[in-house]
Amino acid sequence: MKTIAIINQKGGVGKTTTAINLSAQFAREGKRTLAIDLDPQANLSVVLSGGQFEFKSTISDVFESAKKHPINQAIIPAQAGGDNIKNLSLCPTDIRLSRVIEQSLTKVHRERILLKQLDTLREQFDVVILDCPPNLSLTSVNAMMAADLFLIPVDGGSFSLNGLADLLDALEEVKETDNVNFAVFRNEYAKANKLINNFLDEQLNELEGKVLHSTVRRTEAIGQASVSAEPLMTYKPSSTAINDYKSLAKEILARLDV
Ligand SMILES: Nc1ncnc2c1ncn2[C@@H]1O[C@H](COP(=O)(O)OP(=O)(O)O)[C@@H](O)[C@H]1O
Ligand SMILES: [Mg+2]
Repeated sequence: MKTIAIINQKGGVGKTTTAINLSAQFAREGKRTLAIDLDPQANLSVVLSGGQFEFKSTISDVFESAKKHPINQAIIPAQAGGDNIKNLSLCPTDIRLSRVIEQSLTKVHRERILLKQLDTLREQFDVVILDCPPNLSLTSVNAMMAADLFLIPVDGGSFSLNGLADLLDALEEVKETDNVNFAVFRNEYAKANKLINNFLDEQLNELEGKVLHSTVRRTEAIGQASVSAEPLMTYKPSSTAINDYKSLAKEILARLDV
């Protein structure tokens, strides 16, 4: 089992969208996939449950008391259009997550709650995808401790890699290594934005082998699918952006050895 944290403390760069569609792609390829929602805004939970807003058990319960609520009790089949999505499971979240995490500040090993829980799932899943919140809170630190690979979306429409250096510093600190396994990719890529593309390419060149060749193009259907509480794959199977996620999944699997 390999764990991928989709992380960037900046909001709106495409973390959740990537988590949804990459999970669906891995599942399609036969990988037993678990998507875990770590953002109390719960967008991933709503979309991958086919539009549900309330859940019997969530990751908040796990962080509140893993002993009383082990993670396997919070895992449900992912759904789209009333059907289960084959090979894809969801661990949803709820709005209590931030508060519950605050309260765990007194727990020893509070950074390893998720890591320990994921250890219990090793035989059940091939890939776990963590959708991180837009901050570097204790929730994100839990994701960092648990992850084998960090996937960092960079949004394609802005002249800034704001915070990328800070993020890499935080990853190095938490992982206690200067050789963190991370990969950056361009989301909402638009070929016509030459000025921005040149600027970002130049900045990203400094990261050498850490920038993926795959990009996810800016595609209206991607947003529409999420609003309809579906992955793009079931919402619009003919969309060319499906190929972007296919190629992204392939590059990531190659880096993970699964
Ligand atoms: N490749 C894309 N093409 C078009 N819209 C996108 C794309 N990626 C993300 N979006 C849209 O951008 C917004 C922010 O994306 P989201 O995944 O919620 O970001 P984050 O989780 O990083 O805050 C959403 O409305 C989403 O539908
Ligand atoms: Mg998000």
